[in-house]
Amino acid sequence: MTGRTDLLWKMLIAACATFAAVSVPLGTMLGLDVSGTMMPAVGSFVSIIFLIDVVVQHRKIAANVSTFSGTRTQSGWWLAADILAAAPVLLLPVPSLLRLLPLFKLARVAQMMIRWQRRHIRHANILRLTFFAFWLALGTHWIACGWLALRAPAPVTGDQSAYLHALYWTVQTLSTVGYGDVTPKSPPETLYAIGVMILGVAVYGYIIGNVAGTLSSVDPAKAHYLENLEKLSAFLRYRHIPHALQERIRQYYEYQWENRLGYDESDLLTSLPPNLKTELTLLLKKDIIERVPLFHGAGEDFVRAVALDMRPAVYLPGDVVFKAGDVARKMYFISKGSVEVLSKDGNTVYNTLKEGDFFGEVALFHNTPRTATVRAVGYCDLYTLDKDSFTRILAHFPSEAGHIKQLARERLARS
Ligand code: CMP
Repeated sequence: MTGRTDLLWKMLIAACATFAAVSVPLGTMLGLDVSGTMMPAVGSFVSIIFLIDVVVQHRKIAANVSTFSGTRTQSGWWLAADILAAAPVLLLPVPSLLRLLPLFKLARVAQMMIRWQRRHIRHANILRLTFFAFWLALGTHWIACGWLALRAPAPVTGDQSAYLHALYWTVQTLSTVGYGDVTPKSPPETLYAIGVMILGVAVYGYIIGNVAGTLSSVDPAKAHYLENLEKLSAFLRYRHIPHALQERIRQYYEYQWENRLGYDESDLLTSLPPNLKTELTLLLKKDIIERVPLFHGAGEDFVRAVALDMRPAVYLPGDVVFKAGDVARKMYFISKGSVEVLSKDGNTVYNTLKEGDFFGEVALFHNTPRTATVRAVGYCDLYTLDKDSFTRILAHFPSEAGHIKQLARERLARS
């Protein structure tokens, strides 16, 4: 699918999911059969579109997903939600609870909204408010349907004024206005009303907070990040970089933003005088130093020497850090995430290394090519130590060197 068809298809899915989300609960509450009396053609159309989308999504997953397990399970969940949503319940006379199955498609709508927000970062605030308004409207509708369901006597089939009345109650309760002209009569209604009032307070707070946030100026870190992203997007478009690669680059920036406010810490450190630089480096790398068992028993000088020379590096899910047979230039410490150590052909997983583990030391010690391939499982924050620093530091600290050497020997024997 090209970018434009893909967008149109997504809009169609969003429209169908919204139709199902509005009409199914309403139809059920007012005793209307979506498949029969209420727009039968639209009901069938929605079911067919959702069915086609299962195939579309499945093909996309098969084409895009690399073979790492994290994404595979995730795509499994998505596929399950798509299949459930595509169950042709709008075409068949089934119990009312099963009618709600197409609403699973709303998960896809939420996912699309998150992606749109990421892609149009400059308008993220406006989009966030728009999407919030969408969910709020849908939520209000559902609450009104719930109120109808609880209300006695049950509304007469097709009684639109009953729905309008329920909507009126919902809006005044959610918006914390509460005129009190429609009051709960039975205990379930009272409990329901309490729940909606509490929700109303939270929603109200959220709206006030968000509007204030949107109106306040963009902070400098965000401005810096947005500028970089804007330049990059323009460049990628100008050079017609393939869509998939553009997406990965964006994912990288987004991860950098979420974790480091979009700054490369080594750039910031270079401008500092040596004392401050050492102090700040140790503080910034405190997490990784605390996580790596190798550093626990090690002397302070060793930790300081390694910390000063470590450089951050981010890998995205499925990225290959290096391949077996590559020339070795660095060793790596895992700060966040995990990696798989694979055989040269990629078929055997020797081991999965997690936060606090290190790898890439074997080839540096023995001056050989890489003995195994290493691949990131999810998002990975690594710190690298280049070969020169590695050799220099280990020459200075023989006891720590002995420990690493011992582990390297064991790993070499196992791979
Ligand atoms: P190197 O040979 O430089 O590159 C591949 C790295 O994978 C290797 O260093 C070790 O750090 C790591 N490695 C190899 N085999 C294993 C194993 N069996 N268990 C854990 N890590 C391994």
